[in-house]
Amino acid sequence: MSYQDFLAKYPSYKSTLAIDELRAADYSRLDRAGQVYLDYTGGGLYADSQVRQHQQVLLEGVFGNPHSSNPTSLAATTLVESARESVLRFFNADPDEYDVIFTQNASGALKVVGEAYPFGPGDQYLLTFDNHNSVNGIREFAHARGAEVTYVPVSLPDMRVDESMLEQAWDKARPGGNNLFAYPAQSNFSSVQHPLEWIERAHAKGWDVLLDAAAFAPSNRLDLSRFKPDFVPLSFYKIFGYPTGIGALIAHRDNLHKLHRPWFAGGTITVASVQGDKYYMAEGHAAFEDGTVDYLNIPAIEIGLHHIERIGIDAIHERVRCLTGWLLENLTAMRHSTGVPLARVYGPTSIEKRGGAVAANFFDQNGQAIDHRSIEEAANKVNISLRTGCFCNPGAGEIALGISSMELAACFSQPTHEQRLSLDDFRLCIDGKSSGAVRISVGMVTNFDDVQKFLEFAQGLVG
Ligand SMILES: Cc1ncc(COP(=O)(O)O)c(C=O)c1O
Repeated sequence: MSYQDFLAKYPSYKSTLAIDELRAADYSRLDRAGQVYLDYTGGGLYADSQVRQHQQVLLEGVFGNPHSSNPTSLAATTLVESARESVLRFFNADPDEYDVIFTQNASGALKVVGEAYPFGPGDQYLLTFDNHNSVNGIREFAHARGAEVTYVPVSLPDMRVDESMLEQAWDKARPGGNNLFAYPAQSNFSSVQHPLEWIERAHAKGWDVLLDAAAFAPSNRLDLSRFKPDFVPLSFYKIFGYPTGIGALIAHRDNLHKLHRPWFAGGTITVASVQGDKYYMAEGHAAFEDGTVDYLNIPAIEIGLHHIERIGIDAIHERVRCLTGWLLENLTAMRHSTGVPLARVYGPTSIEKRGGAVAANFFDQNGQAIDHRSIEEAANKVNISLRTGCFCNPGAGEIALGISSMELAACFSQPTHEQRLSLDDFRLCIDGKSSGAVRISVGMVTNFDDVQKFLEFAQGLVG
């Protein structure tokens, strides 16, 4: 399992070696601290230079609230609008076609869609089992307004969607109604990349499409001149680590006018009157950005995007692809002396149409599952940062872990579980089954040593 073996197997990794130099120069704190960071789906890492450049902007400029037209306000507006343009450029989105709404994070972007999408009785919200909870949560807006909510399952072992089921679901669009279809470009559980071609196919059948790009965007090219979803939520810290607290909803202008906000706030209106009890919404993104945007941090978005552009999203993609392939093939080959495989990976075990996260559970030599929490505790002791649990993706988790709707109904209908259910109670309910998994995710500045250290750790679990 040497570096030479890896390079022989994944020769294209060599084309990404500039990232090793970048890591030494711009992320040196990672190695100084002796941290093996393997939670890129949770959050990306920032370069020292991003922080320095941002600090320089703050130290050299004078910025006021952008809701005015005085010089310091205009200075802030210029940087915010420049950042907005840089987001469109990064995703190759035509400004005549798409607008960017700054939000707190991807969840904030999803909430904008959920609360403003004009669901009504008989309308449809269609989504895959494989979705983050912030996409699942939109169903509550749909239910409240009498729309129908339909889930399309994913199937083991690869955790992809059976397209014939999806076709059938698309065929149930309400003619002339509001039909919203939501799916992740990349699963934050299994890392499956669901086809971007679904966007056009769903459009042709009368659906608006919400493409959750939060897990996809950090290491894949999303070209919005080629694929044209209506709503794209994402979080910037997942792409380049800094700053946290800013996301975006990239929205197709044709469908932005469809969204009706349930309230107005400072910054979202042209005119609002107290005595006249009337308000007029602003045009475009302004109607969706409540109050004052984070105008001191938004300039760091442009700096972060330039940083990624300099490295090249294709180089990042290739690096992640090679390291994931190596991780998968070595992890799935590990066996106890009894012949029992050490790990069971949920999702594809080849690198085709998948991203850089590997979700798995670990088993002892008798085939008994090892609690994912104890794997995390052991990893913590050797400074390996992993993620455990269900990663806010319960639909994928239920399929992966074999938790049936009957078991869930029995658990949720217990009188003591009517209002509250702790995770420990839930574990008791599902009676010995794993309630979560371990996720190892590689990203932009992961190197071969990081993956090797994890594999050595895993080897240490073999009995
Ligand atoms: C696929 C996906 N969607 C949405 C989110 C929510 O992102 P945030 O927590 O930044 O709002 C995440 C976060 O992990 C994610 O992976």
